[in-house]
Amino acid sequence: MALDKKFIDQFADVTSKAALASYKFVGKKDKIAADKAAVDSMRNELNQINIKGKIVIGEGELDEAPMLYIGEIVGTNNGPEIDIAVDPLEGTNFAANNLPGALSVMAVAEKNNLFNAPETYMEKISANVNEKGVIDLDFTIKKNIFNLSEFLNKKPENITACIMNRPRHKKIINELNKMGVNIKLISDGDVSGALLVTDDKYGVDIFLGTGGGPEGVLAAAALDTFNCNFQGRFLFVTDEDKIRAKKMGIKDLTKKYQLKEIIKGDTIFCATGITSSDLVSGIKIEKDEYISETLITHKSSGIKKIIKKFKIDRPKQYL
Ligand code: FBP
Repeated sequence: MALDKKFIDQFADVTSKAALASYKFVGKKDKIAADKAAVDSMRNELNQINIKGKIVIGEGELDEAPMLYIGEIVGTNNGPEIDIAVDPLEGTNFAANNLPGALSVMAVAEKNNLFNAPETYMEKISANVNEKGVIDLDFTIKKNIFNLSEFLNKKPENITACIMNRPRHKKIINELNKMGVNIKLISDGDVSGALLVTDDKYGVDIFLGTGGGPEGVLAAAALDTFNCNFQGRFLFVTDEDKIRAKKMGIKDLTKKYQLKEIIKGDTIFCATGITSSDLVSGIKIEKDEYISETLITHKSSGIKKIIKKFKIDRPKQYL
């Protein structure tokens, strides 16, 4: 069963409104307020859509008492059963400091088709390659780059790799450097980092490194429609992480997940810009109009495009 196309616009509306709500806090040095505004708006809007929605990736566990907690039921309860992954504000630092790259993101799939990712780190790799054996989390960096350069018919020095600027990536960055690979270092926001492989216009051939697991699942939802490759492996470090993983039904804690094990069936993905980035423009205000840009993908119809919304309805706090 496919997800009805009518939901595309409704979900794009949800992330657009969340982005606008968070936009009010751009540059205010208050990550929590910027996040809360996006969460409140997203929850409110989701509850008006005719779905029986379940948050499978959200703002935390019920005992932490957040809104949009994992397991929370949203929607009018009158419609299809769907799984929802949300990151109402992806890039809290970007929003707080008015830097490029803050997004409001969500992905939906039919019930039981979206991986219930724990809030741990995940090793990730993605590229716009669908052949098996070209890139793989189990390969060395050298092998991945050589394979990719052969596949793309480019020399390693003409390959660009996107990776987050973190001390934990020192070894990978050194290896890439030794091979003469161009490195696009990002300070945060690895949902969009992973999505930069989807189109030549972004000039990124491979994304790799360790970031949030939930962000990995969100990126995978869009990468599936772009027919790109993605692999992820959760990193369970503390005993608490391991216990939680087991509770979530993860038996093999070292398993490497292929994209199709993370996302199954039909999906809709929406990412609205709060501040501008390579992917989408941030919220713009022209006269009395609020304009948002949203990247949307819909697997079953093959839709992958950027849409603009003009005059987004103002959330309550703007009135
Ligand atoms: P927030 O929006 O929650 O601040 O996350 C931003 C982010 O950069 C993610 O895109 C990424 O997956 C994660 O943080 C990386 O975590 P860390 O900053 O601990 O390396």
